[in-house]
Amino acid sequence: MSVKKAMVIGAGQMGGGIAQIMAAAGIETYLNDINLEIVNNRIQFIEKLLSKDVAKGKITEEQKDKTLSLLLPSENLEDAADCDIVVEAIVENMDIKSSTFQKLDFICKPSCILASNTSSLPITEIAAVTGRPDRVIGMHFMNPVPVMKLVEIIRGLATSDETYEAVRDLSVELNKTPVEVRDVPGFVSNRVLQMMINEAIYCLYEGVASVEDIDAVMKLGMNHPMGPLQLADFIGLDTVLAIMEVMYEGYADCKYRPCPLLRQYVKAGWLGKKAGRGFYTYE
Ligand code: NAI
Repeated sequence: MSVKKAMVIGAGQMGGGIAQIMAAAGIETYLNDINLEIVNNRIQFIEKLLSKDVAKGKITEEQKDKTLSLLLPSENLEDAADCDIVVEAIVENMDIKSSTFQKLDFICKPSCILASNTSSLPITEIAAVTGRPDRVIGMHFMNPVPVMKLVEIIRGLATSDETYEAVRDLSVELNKTPVEVRDVPGFVSNRVLQMMINEAIYCLYEGVASVEDIDAVMKLGMNHPMGPLQLADFIGLDTVLAIMEVMYEGYADCKYRPCPLLRQYVKAGWLGKKAGRGFYTYE
Protein backbone atom coordinates (compact mmCIF):
# COMPACT_ATOMS: atom_id res chain seq x y z
CA MET A 1 0.00 0.00 0.00
CA SER A 2 1.36 3.41 -0.84
CA VAL A 3 0.31 6.31 1.38
CA LYS A 4 -0.66 9.44 -0.55
CA LYS A 5 -2.87 11.17 1.97
CA ALA A 6 -2.74 11.04 5.75
CA MET A 7 -4.18 12.63 8.85
CA VAL A 8 -2.37 13.17 12.14
CA ILE A 9 -4.74 13.83 15.05
CA GLY A 10 -3.39 15.94 17.90
CA ALA A 11 -1.23 18.95 17.03
CA GLY A 12 0.84 18.66 20.22
CA GLN A 13 4.57 18.05 20.33
CA MET A 14 4.29 14.51 18.92
CA GLY A 15 1.52 15.06 16.35
CA GLY A 16 3.28 18.17 15.03
CA GLY A 17 6.50 16.22 14.51
CA ILE A 18 4.75 13.26 12.86
CA ALA A 19 2.85 15.56 10.47
CA GLN A 20 6.08 17.42 9.67
CA ILE A 21 8.02 14.30 8.63
CA MET A 22 5.07 12.93 6.65
CA ALA A 23 4.73 16.17 4.69
CA ALA A 24 8.52 16.26 4.22
CA ALA A 25 8.24 12.77 2.68
CA GLY A 26 5.77 14.13 0.09
CA ILE A 27 2.56 12.90 1.75
CA GLU A 28 -0.39 15.28 1.80
CA THR A 29 -1.08 15.44 5.55
CA TYR A 30 -3.97 16.90 7.52
CA LEU A 31 -2.93 18.09 10.97
CA ASN A 32 -6.05 17.91 13.15
CA ASP A 33 -6.81 19.18 16.64
CA ILE A 34 -9.84 20.34 18.58
CA ASN A 35 -9.55 23.83 17.13
CA LEU A 36 -7.72 25.58 14.30
CA GLU A 37 -5.85 27.96 16.62
CA ILE A 38 -3.89 25.04 18.12
CA VAL A 39 -3.20 23.64 14.64
CA ASN A 40 -2.08 26.97 13.18
CA ASN A 41 0.21 27.63 16.16
CA ARG A 42 1.82 24.23 15.61
CA ILE A 43 2.24 24.87 11.88
CA GLN A 44 3.94 28.20 12.68
CA PHE A 45 6.25 26.31 15.05
CA ILE A 46 7.05 23.77 12.30
CA GLU A 47 7.77 26.67 9.93
CA LYS A 48 10.32 28.03 12.42
CA LEU A 49 11.98 24.60 12.71
CA LEU A 50 12.17 24.27 8.93
CA SER A 51 13.63 27.80 8.60
CA LYS A 52 16.38 26.78 11.05
CA ASP A 53 17.07 23.70 8.87
CA VAL A 54 17.32 25.97 5.81
CA ALA A 55 19.74 28.29 7.66
CA LYS A 56 21.88 25.28 8.60
CA GLY A 57 21.85 24.06 4.99
CA LYS A 58 20.05 20.80 5.89
CA ILE A 59 17.18 21.52 3.48
CA THR A 60 16.53 24.04 0.71
CA GLU A 61 13.98 26.88 0.76
CA GLU A 62 12.01 24.92 -1.90
CA GLN A 63 11.91 21.81 0.30
CA LYS A 64 10.65 23.91 3.20
CA ASP A 65 7.90 25.47 1.04
CA LYS A 66 6.92 22.06 -0.39
CA THR A 67 6.64 20.56 3.12
CA LEU A 68 4.51 23.46 4.37
CA SER A 69 2.26 23.28 1.29
CA LEU A 70 1.52 19.61 2.07
CA LEU A 71 0.45 20.38 5.66
CA LEU A 72 -3.31 20.92 5.73
CA PRO A 73 -4.91 22.39 8.89
CA SER A 74 -8.02 20.53 10.07
CA GLU A 75 -10.51 20.77 12.92
CA ASN A 76 -12.96 18.22 11.46
CA LEU A 77 -12.32 14.50 11.79
CA GLU A 78 -14.46 14.11 8.62
CA ASP A 79 -11.43 15.33 6.64
CA ALA A 80 -10.01 11.83 7.23
CA ALA A 81 -12.58 10.35 4.80
CA ASP A 82 -10.15 10.08 1.88
CA CYS A 83 -6.97 9.32 3.87
CA ASP A 84 -4.90 6.13 3.48
CA ILE A 85 -3.68 6.26 7.08
CA VAL A 86 -4.60 8.18 10.24
CA VAL A 87 -2.05 8.49 13.03
CA GLU A 88 -3.62 9.44 16.35
CA ALA A 89 -1.40 11.43 18.79
CA ILE A 90 -3.87 12.86 21.30
CA VAL A 91 -3.80 12.72 25.09
CA GLU A 92 -2.75 9.38 26.69
CA ASN A 93 -6.23 8.40 27.87
CA MET A 94 -8.03 5.20 26.84
CA ASP A 95 -11.58 6.64 26.90
CA ILE A 96 -10.65 9.62 24.72
CA LYS A 97 -8.60 7.49 22.30
CA SER A 98 -11.36 4.84 22.07
CA SER A 99 -14.03 7.39 21.27
CA THR A 100 -11.77 8.92 18.57
CA PHE A 101 -11.14 5.50 16.99
CA GLN A 102 -14.88 4.75 16.98
CA LYS A 103 -15.54 7.98 15.07
CA LEU A 104 -12.64 7.31 12.68
CA ASP A 105 -13.93 3.81 11.95
CA PHE A 106 -17.20 5.36 10.80
CA ILE A 107 -15.57 8.19 8.79
CA CYS A 108 -12.59 6.50 7.09
CA LYS A 109 -12.65 4.37 3.94
CA PRO A 110 -12.44 0.61 4.63
CA SER A 111 -8.84 0.34 3.42
CA CYS A 112 -7.60 3.11 5.73
CA ILE A 113 -5.13 2.09 8.46
CA LEU A 114 -5.79 3.53 11.91
CA ALA A 115 -2.55 3.91 13.85
CA SER A 116 -1.99 5.13 17.40
CA ASN A 117 1.13 6.85 18.71
CA THR A 118 0.18 5.75 22.23
CA SER A 119 3.13 5.37 24.63
CA SER A 120 1.67 2.52 26.62
CA LEU A 121 -2.02 1.73 26.04
CA PRO A 122 -3.05 -1.69 24.65
CA ILE A 123 -3.47 -1.60 20.87
CA THR A 124 -5.73 -4.69 21.07
CA GLU A 125 -8.19 -2.77 23.26
CA ILE A 126 -8.16 0.32 21.01
CA ALA A 127 -8.67 -1.93 17.96
CA ALA A 128 -11.61 -3.72 19.58
CA VAL A 129 -13.82 -0.59 19.51
CA THR A 130 -13.58 -0.53 15.70
CA GLY A 131 -15.04 -2.81 13.04
CA ARG A 132 -11.55 -3.17 11.49
CA PRO A 133 -9.21 -4.50 14.22
CA ASP A 134 -7.03 -6.00 11.45
CA ARG A 135 -6.26 -2.44 10.28
CA VAL A 136 -5.41 -0.96 13.68
CA ILE A 137 -1.78 -0.80 14.82
CA GLY A 138 0.61 1.03 17.16
CA MET A 139 3.08 3.38 15.49
CA HIS A 140 5.11 4.77 18.38
CA PHE A 141 7.44 7.60 17.40
CA MET A 142 10.04 9.08 19.72
CA ASN A 143 10.38 12.70 20.82
CA PRO A 144 11.50 14.91 19.03
CA VAL A 145 10.06 13.07 16.03
CA PRO A 146 12.12 14.73 13.25
CA VAL A 147 15.35 13.81 15.08
CA MET A 148 14.83 10.38 16.64
CA LYS A 149 15.29 7.37 14.35
CA LEU A 150 13.15 4.76 16.12
CA VAL A 151 9.54 3.73 15.51
CA GLU A 152 8.15 0.95 17.71
CA ILE A 153 5.49 -0.91 15.73
CA ILE A 154 2.98 -2.68 17.94
CA ARG A 155 0.69 -5.33 16.55
CA GLY A 156 -2.61 -5.87 18.33
CA LEU A 157 -4.00 -9.39 18.56
CA ALA A 158 -5.93 -8.99 15.29
CA THR A 159 -3.53 -6.74 13.33
CA SER A 160 -3.02 -8.26 9.85
CA ASP A 161 0.35 -8.93 8.21
CA GLU A 162 -0.69 -6.57 5.43
CA THR A 163 -1.23 -3.70 7.90
CA TYR A 164 2.05 -4.43 9.68
CA GLU A 165 3.98 -4.50 6.40
CA ALA A 166 2.40 -1.23 5.18
CA VAL A 167 3.32 0.57 8.42
CA ARG A 168 6.81 -0.91 8.46
CA ASP A 169 7.36 0.27 4.85
CA LEU A 170 5.95 3.71 5.64
CA SER A 171 8.33 4.03 8.61
CA VAL A 172 11.29 3.32 6.32
CA GLU A 173 9.93 5.84 3.80
CA LEU A 174 9.87 8.38 6.65
CA ASN A 175 13.57 7.62 7.19
CA LYS A 176 12.97 5.81 10.49
CA THR A 177 14.09 2.44 11.78
CA PRO A 178 11.08 0.27 12.70
CA VAL A 179 11.21 -2.31 15.49
CA GLU A 180 8.41 -4.83 16.06
CA VAL A 181 7.19 -5.10 19.64
CA ARG A 182 4.46 -7.20 21.28
CA ASP A 183 1.39 -5.48 22.70
CA VAL A 184 2.32 -5.23 26.40
CA PRO A 185 1.88 -2.16 28.68
CA GLY A 186 4.63 0.39 27.93
CA PHE A 187 5.99 -1.78 25.07
CA VAL A 188 9.82 -1.91 25.32
CA SER A 189 10.71 1.79 25.21
CA ASN A 190 8.61 2.97 28.11
CA ARG A 191 8.84 -0.22 30.13
CA VAL A 192 12.55 0.52 30.43
CA LEU A 193 12.69 4.33 30.19
CA GLN A 194 9.85 5.26 32.53
CA MET A 195 11.20 2.99 35.27
CA MET A 196 14.42 4.99 35.20
CA ILE A 197 12.55 8.31 35.20
CA ASN A 198 10.24 7.20 38.05
CA GLU A 199 13.26 6.04 40.07
CA ALA A 200 14.97 9.41 39.51
CA ILE A 201 11.81 11.13 40.81
CA TYR A 202 11.89 8.83 43.88
CA CYS A 203 15.52 9.92 44.47
CA LEU A 204 14.37 13.54 44.46
CA TYR A 205 11.32 12.72 46.65
CA GLU A 206 13.53 10.99 49.22
CA GLY A 207 16.05 13.85 49.24
CA VAL A 208 18.87 11.68 47.91
CA ALA A 209 20.17 14.48 45.66
CA SER A 210 19.06 17.70 43.95
CA VAL A 211 17.38 17.85 40.52
CA GLU A 212 20.59 19.05 38.87
CA ASP A 213 22.75 16.44 40.60
CA ILE A 214 20.44 13.52 39.76
CA ASP A 215 20.57 14.59 36.12
CA ALA A 216 24.36 15.13 36.30
CA VAL A 217 24.86 11.54 37.53
CA MET A 218 23.12 10.12 34.48
CA LYS A 219 24.63 12.58 31.99
CA LEU A 220 28.24 12.51 33.17
CA GLY A 221 28.25 9.03 34.67
CA MET A 222 26.22 7.10 32.10
CA ASN A 223 26.77 9.33 29.08
CA HIS A 224 23.04 10.00 28.64
CA PRO A 225 22.51 13.11 26.46
CA MET A 226 19.89 14.39 28.91
CA GLY A 227 19.19 13.65 32.58
CA PRO A 228 16.01 11.69 33.46
CA LEU A 229 14.30 14.64 35.18
CA GLN A 230 14.94 16.96 32.25
CA LEU A 231 13.76 14.23 29.89
CA ALA A 232 10.57 13.85 31.98
CA ASP A 233 9.97 17.60 31.60
CA PHE A 234 10.39 17.25 27.83
CA ILE A 235 8.02 14.26 27.60
CA GLY A 236 5.42 16.01 29.78
CA LEU A 237 4.82 14.93 33.39
CA ASP A 238 1.13 14.20 32.67
CA THR A 239 2.24 11.75 29.98
CA VAL A 240 4.89 10.19 32.27
CA LEU A 241 2.25 9.68 34.99
CA ALA A 242 -0.29 8.27 32.51
CA ILE A 243 2.28 5.72 31.27
CA MET A 244 3.26 4.70 34.83
CA GLU A 245 -0.44 4.23 35.70
CA VAL A 246 -0.98 2.01 32.65
CA MET A 247 2.01 -0.18 33.60
CA TYR A 248 1.09 -0.22 37.34
CA GLU A 249 -2.41 -1.42 36.49
CA GLY A 250 -1.45 -3.57 33.50
CA TYR A 251 1.26 -5.62 35.25
CA ALA A 252 -0.40 -5.40 38.72
CA ASP A 253 3.11 -5.12 40.14
CA CYS A 254 4.13 -2.51 42.75
CA LYS A 255 7.49 -1.98 41.05
CA TYR A 256 5.60 0.26 38.60
CA ARG A 257 4.04 2.45 41.34
CA PRO A 258 4.21 6.11 40.23
CA CYS A 259 6.18 8.28 42.68
CA PRO A 260 3.84 10.45 44.84
CA LEU A 261 5.92 13.52 43.92
CA LEU A 262 5.08 12.92 40.24
CA ARG A 263 1.36 12.85 41.07
CA GLN A 264 1.73 16.05 43.07
CA TYR A 265 3.50 17.90 40.25
CA VAL A 266 0.79 16.86 37.78
CA LYS A 267 -1.94 18.00 40.20
CA ALA A 268 -0.14 21.35 40.53
CA GLY A 269 -0.13 21.74 36.73
CA TRP A 270 3.67 21.56 36.67
CA LEU A 271 3.65 19.45 33.51
CA GLY A 272 7.19 20.21 32.34
CA LYS A 273 8.47 22.23 29.41
CA LYS A 274 5.07 22.66 27.72
CA ALA A 275 3.67 24.26 30.92
CA GLY A 276 6.76 26.41 31.60
CA ARG A 277 7.46 24.52 34.84
CA GLY A 278 8.27 20.97 35.85
CA PHE A 279 11.46 19.87 37.58
CA TYR A 280 13.03 22.90 35.88
CA THR A 281 11.49 26.23 34.86
CA TYR A 282 11.29 27.34 31.21
CA GLU A 283 10.83 30.71 29.47
P1 NAI B 1 0.50 17.06 23.90
O1 NAI B 1 -0.18 17.36 25.20
O2 NAI B 1 1.69 17.86 23.48
O3 NAI B 1 -0.57 17.14 22.68
C1 NAI B 1 -1.80 16.51 22.65
C2 NAI B 1 -2.69 17.25 21.66
O4 NAI B 1 -3.87 16.49 21.44
C3 NAI B 1 -3.14 18.64 22.17
O5 NAI B 1 -2.85 19.62 21.19
C4 NAI B 1 -4.65 18.49 22.35
O6 NAI B 1 -5.37 19.68 22.07
C5 NAI B 1 -4.96 17.40 21.33
N1 NAI B 1 -6.19 16.68 21.57
C6 NAI B 1 -6.67 16.19 22.74
N2 NAI B 1 -7.85 15.56 22.52
C7 NAI B 1 -8.11 15.65 21.21
C8 NAI B 1 -9.16 15.19 20.37
N3 NAI B 1 -10.19 14.50 20.88
N4 NAI B 1 -9.11 15.45 19.04
C9 NAI B 1 -8.07 16.15 18.52
N5 NAI B 1 -7.05 16.60 19.26
C10 NAI B 1 -7.06 16.36 20.59
O7 NAI B 1 0.84 15.50 23.97
P2 NAI B 1 2.04 14.70 23.25
O8 NAI B 1 3.24 14.74 24.12
O9 NAI B 1 2.15 15.15 21.84
O10 NAI B 1 1.48 13.19 23.32
C11 NAI B 1 0.47 12.74 22.44
C12 NAI B 1 0.48 11.21 22.41
O11 NAI B 1 1.78 10.76 22.02
C13 NAI B 1 0.18 10.53 23.76
O12 NAI B 1 -0.53 9.34 23.51
C14 NAI B 1 1.57 10.24 24.29
O13 NAI B 1 1.56 9.18 25.21
C15 NAI B 1 2.29 9.87 23.01
N6 NAI B 1 3.75 10.02 23.04
C16 NAI B 1 4.33 11.07 23.70
C17 NAI B 1 5.71 11.19 23.71
C18 NAI B 1 6.36 12.35 24.40
O14 NAI B 1 7.60 12.35 24.55
N7 NAI B 1 5.62 13.35 24.83
C19 NAI B 1 6.60 10.21 23.03
C20 NAI B 1 5.88 9.18 22.30
C21 NAI B 1 4.51 9.09 22.34
